Amino acid sequence: MEIGELNSLTEILTEYVGNAFEAAGYDREFGLVVRSNRPDLGDYQCNGALPAAGAYGQNPRDIAQAAVEELGAAVQDGVFAEVSPAGPGFINLRLDDRFLARHIHSMAQDERLGVPEKAEARHVIIDFGGANVAKPMHVGHLRSTIIGDSLQRLFSFCGDRVTSDIHMGDWGLQMGTLIMAVKRRQPDLPYFDPDYEGPYPEESPVTMADLQDYYPEASARNKSDPEALEASRKATRELQEGRPGYRALWQHFVDVSIASLSRDFDSLNVHFDLWLGESHADPYIEPMIETLIDAGFAVESEGALIVPVDKPDDKTEIPPLMLLKSDGAVLYGTTDLATLAMRMAELEPDAILYVVDARQSLHFEQVFRAARKSGVVPQSVDLEHLPFGTMNGPDGKPFKTRAGGVMPLDDLIQMVRVKARTRLQEVDAAQEYPDEEREEIARLVGLSALKFADLINHRARDYVFDLERFSSFEGRTGPYLLYTAVRTKSILRRADELGLKAGDIIPAAGAEERELALKLAELPDVIAHVYETRAPNHLADHVYNLAIIFNRFYREHHILSEENAARQASWLALSHYSLRQLETVLSLMGIEVPERM
Ligand code: ARG
Repeated sequence: MEIGELNSLTEILTEYVGNAFEAAGYDREFGLVVRSNRPDLGDYQCNGALPAAGAYGQNPRDIAQAAVEELGAAVQDGVFAEVSPAGPGFINLRLDDRFLARHIHSMAQDERLGVPEKAEARHVIIDFGGANVAKPMHVGHLRSTIIGDSLQRLFSFCGDRVTSDIHMGDWGLQMGTLIMAVKRRQPDLPYFDPDYEGPYPEESPVTMADLQDYYPEASARNKSDPEALEASRKATRELQEGRPGYRALWQHFVDVSIASLSRDFDSLNVHFDLWLGESHADPYIEPMIETLIDAGFAVESEGALIVPVDKPDDKTEIPPLMLLKSDGAVLYGTTDLATLAMRMAELEPDAILYVVDARQSLHFEQVFRAARKSGVVPQSVDLEHLPFGTMNGPDGKPFKTRAGGVMPLDDLIQMVRVKARTRLQEVDAAQEYPDEEREEIARLVGLSALKFADLINHRARDYVFDLERFSSFEGRTGPYLLYTAVRTKSILRRADELGLKAGDIIPAAGAEERELALKLAELPDVIAHVYETRAPNHLADHVYNLAIIFNRFYREHHILSEENAARQASWLALSHYSLRQLETVLSLMGIEVPERM
C-alpha cells in the first residue's frame, strides 16, 4: 500500500512507524499507532516497543529509541513535528501542522468524506423490526428498529449489499387465537364454513383496531380456559395446513397489519427491502423436515420432532430445537430454520444478522446450531445474533404506560413529539416559522431525541428512558446535535450571502482548531470500528465529541469577521466538512437534520 493513498490517518502513521520498526530490525507489526490518551504529550502514540521487548528479549526503551531514530526521515519530510520516546517504552508522536491540514483537506475533498469503501462487498441480510401481525408495535420493537436501521445504513455506506427483512410474526398461535376471536363475534362469516367454496369477500371483516381489541382478551381467555386454548391451537394448525377459509381470513389480518405497521415505520423513517413474515418460509418447511429426517438430524421424541443441538463441551444445557409439536403444529424455531433455507435458496447471502432482544439468545443458539449441523447454512455464511437490552422506565423495569400496560409505539412517538414542541418553545426556536414547518421541526427533534438516546448506549446495555433528559438541547442528546448542525448551516448560509468562499484548509492557528482537525481525522477508524463490532454507539460518541469540539472552535474564532482571507476560507472549509461529518454520521443513525430551527 502506498503511503498517501486515502487511508485513515492512523493507518498512514502506522505505515511510517512500522517502516521505522522494520528498519531498526524489528517486526513492523509493532508499529501500530493509536490516538494518544495524553494530548499534552502527543497527538498519537505507539506502544509497540513494550510487546517487542518481550518478543526480542531486549529493553523496551532501547527499542523505542531505535525506532525513534529511524523516524528521523519522516520528521524531515514534514509528517511529524516531534517524535519522542517516553516512559517505559512509549513513542509519542506530534504531527506537523501542515501535514495534518493537508490530510484534512484531502478528506474534505473526497465525496465519501475520506472513508474508503470496503474492498470486497458482501451481501448481508439484516433481520430486524420483528413486528407481529395484529399486535401493535411496542417499545420492545423500537430498539430492534433503531439499531437495525442504523446497521443497515452503515453497512450500505461501507459498500455492502444490504437486504433488510422485517420478518413479521404471522404464523404462530396468535393467528389461531385471532381466528377464534373473530369466530366468536361473527360466527356466520364464510371463513368458518368448511363447505364454503369461495370466493371469499375482498373486504376485511376486521380493522387493525378490532384486532388489537380482540387479541388481549382472546389471549387471556386461552390462559384461563383450556378449551379455548385447544381451539386456538387447532385453528393454528389448520391454518398452517392450508384450510382455505382460515388462510383467506388470515390474509386480511396480514394486510390490515402491514398497512398499519408501514405507517409506524414510515413515521420513524425506517424502510425495509422485504416485508416477509414467518409464513413465507412455509413452502420450505415440509421438504426441509423430510431432508432432516432422512439424514437423521431430526428425530422423534415423545411424539414431537426435534433436532438435538447439544455439544459435549457445553457449559450449560442447550435443549433440542423443536420442529413439530406432537399435534403437528410448527413452532417459532421451525419457521426460523425454514426461513434460513429460504434465504439461502432465494437470496444467497454472505451473512445474516439478527437484531433481536437478548432474551431470545437461546432460541438463536438452537436455530444456528441446527442450521450448521444439518447443512441448511454452510460454514461460509455468517450467522450472528446481535442481542440488545431493554428500555426501562424510571423504576428500572421494562418501560410501561402510567397504567402499567405496554406502551404502543405510536403513543410513544406522539409523546416525544409533544415534548419536542415544548422544548422548542423553551429555547425560543422555530417559534416564528409557519405552523407546518414548526411541526416538522418538532417531529425531527423528537425523533432525534428518541434515536440518539437509544444509540448512545451500547446495544447490549439496558437503559432508562428519561424523556426530560433526552429531549434537552444540552448534554449528550439528539436535540443538542441537531442544534449544532443547524447553527453551522446558518453560519454557512450567512457566509454565502456575504459572498465568502471556502478554500484550502491551511495549518491550524490555535489549539481548538487543531483539536477539531484531529477529531475529524478519526472518522474512517470510527466507521471501521462500528462495522466490526456492529455497535452504533461509537457513531453516537464520535458525533457528540465532534459537536463539542466544533462548538469550542466556533466560539474561539470569529469566522465571518476574520480579516485574513486565506484563514477565513480555511475555517469555512473546516466548517463545511465538519457539517458534512455531523450530518453523515447522524444519517447513519437514522437521524435527519432540519434546514433551520
Ligand atoms: N416477532 C418476533 C418478536 O416479536 C421477533 C422476530 C425476530 N426475527 C426472527 N427471525 N426470529 O419477538
